[in-house]
Amino acid sequence: MNPEFIALDASRIDAGLFHPERFRVEVQPTIDSTSSALKRRAETGDIDRAVIVAETQSAGRGRHGRSWVDQPGRSLLFSLGWQPALDASVLAGLSLAAGVAVCLALEEQDIAGVRLKWPNDVLHNHCKLGGILVETVTGATGLGVVLGIGLNVSLDTSLRASIAAPVTDLAAAGWHGDRNVLLAAILGQLDVALERFRRDGFRSFRAEWLARHALQQRNVRIWRDGQEIAAGRAIDVDADGALLIQTTAGVRRLLSGELTLRAG
Ligand code: BTN
Repeated sequence: MNPEFIALDASRIDAGLFHPERFRVEVQPTIDSTSSALKRRAETGDIDRAVIVAETQSAGRGRHGRSWVDQPGRSLLFSLGWQPALDASVLAGLSLAAGVAVCLALEEQDIAGVRLKWPNDVLHNHCKLGGILVETVTGATGLGVVLGIGLNVSLDTSLRASIAAPVTDLAAAGWHGDRNVLLAAILGQLDVALERFRRDGFRSFRAEWLARHALQQRNVRIWRDGQEIAAGRAIDVDADGALLIQTTAGVRRLLSGELTLRAG
């Protein structure tokens, strides 16, 4: 285990929250996937503000049906349930808003230079530091959202080598702190962000998101199911979180769905 290892602990997480009463935090040493667990829970009960955080996942999931790998204690892996009583159609920009909240929390921890790649990759030094998976679920108490967030904290070289994409971690960004404190900071930012999103939607996050977009004004290529479907310059995101790219044929609007963005 890494020398600065401090185990996840619900009482330490609560102690770092201004409003611990707003969350129900549960720590699991090991689980299949914190997001899958919350989705199962939604079938029989209310998952609003329930948080599951795990030391390791045996079946962690990423976007595009990919797996999300970790080593015990070397990542921050958690999911937050939210039942906002909003129509599913307005939830498109939620993963981008959550990206802004994660950046603000990392900045609060003095981790500078964190960027976002549309729709919701968290980058540092052009490498993937983390990811956000937003899933909707129709459960026992109505429409819910499960926000699953994974951040690499201190991966060892064997795990890095097994991941095809360039990855980085918080240790490489100079952060060697307590994951309980970091999770409390992220939940604190999400607490504010979710209320803001419920009230004003993604439009109120747009400027903060653009300021952190790693590929802003860069040539990009958009892929779906392994095929390039568009290429152009990333010029903007609109009020619902769609990416706007300037192509030779005009401005094209792309909604996240199952799209992947690559530098062109
Ligand atoms: C991505 O593909 O970039 C999104 C990755 C999301 C991973 C997190 S880890 C905690 C939560 N549980 C999961 O199974 N996935 C999310």
